[in-house]
Amino acid sequence: MSNPPESCCDFAGSYELSRLPEIKKLEQVALGCDYGGTSWTTRQQAEGILASLQLGSTNRLLDIGAGAGWPGLLLAKLSSCDVTLLDIPLNALAQAVTRAADDGMTERVDIVSGSGTALPFSNQTFDRISHSDVLCCLPEKLEFLQESRRVAIDNARMHFSVILPAEGLPQPKHEKVLETGPPFIGVNGSYSELLHAAGWQVDDCQDVTDEYGSSLQRLVDGIYKNQKELADLLGEDELIAKREHREDQIASITEGSMRREAFVAVAA
Ligand SMILES: C[S@@+](CC[C@H](N)C(=O)[O-])C[C@H]1O[C@@H](n2cnc3c(N)ncnc32)[C@H](O)[C@@H]1O
Repeated sequence: MSNPPESCCDFAGSYELSRLPEIKKLEQVALGCDYGGTSWTTRQQAEGILASLQLGSTNRLLDIGAGAGWPGLLLAKLSSCDVTLLDIPLNALAQAVTRAADDGMTERVDIVSGSGTALPFSNQTFDRISHSDVLCCLPEKLEFLQESRRVAIDNARMHFSVILPAEGLPQPKHEKVLETGPPFIGVNGSYSELLHAAGWQVDDCQDVTDEYGSSLQRLVDGIYKNQKELADLLGEDELIAKREHREDQIASITEGSMRREAFVAVAA
């Protein structure tokens, strides 16, 4: 692992929590997995990613913004492919190292600290790429997609999910979503346009907002159910703030202001 570049958000803090058993229990309830993940990709959706990437043992997968290894490690486990996991926070990548070893996959897993906007790889290195809810966590969306295209071979397949504001919202609702959603949920133009500009051709785009809302609701229900142990862990005020933040996100989804989409693109 090399030295990490600067990150503007406290993802390291999120990964300090996501490795704890009490938080993994919530992850299991909300998403059906226990990798210490911080995206909204469920176990079931990870199996869908495997299919839409047409992932097999001969592929070389890059999971960008892979955090503690979700979903890249599961994709590599199910397909027997080689995987490179890239993210910024070292504590997340350390969790991925441990999980890869626990799953007996160390030989097929490379773990790299770096930025998706300046990937430390040669041109045309990978034939499969994935990223889960990463583009809504950074401002340089076009640069990120251009970098993913640079390291992809022609006809490579890429799957990603992203959380975004609904189109055509009145200004106050748009501003509310910017406050409530992930740190860089706002996007200039559409993801289809950005993909095209970066040299990717859209193969599929699914609206996965309902599943996102259901996962959030299971998380909130899990917080209520395990209130005592979570308050002991986080403190009462912090727990209430976290729960209310998730309830605000559910409200934004329910009123149609916030969406989650899953794209499949092919390197043109
Ligand atoms: C919502 S989390 C998803 C993490 C992981 N894929 C998962 O599903 O648990 C978004 C991730 O994007 C990473 N990230 C943010 N900016 C990045 C950048 N410029 N380059 C690479 N990763 C970045 C964060 O560190 C964080 O781990």
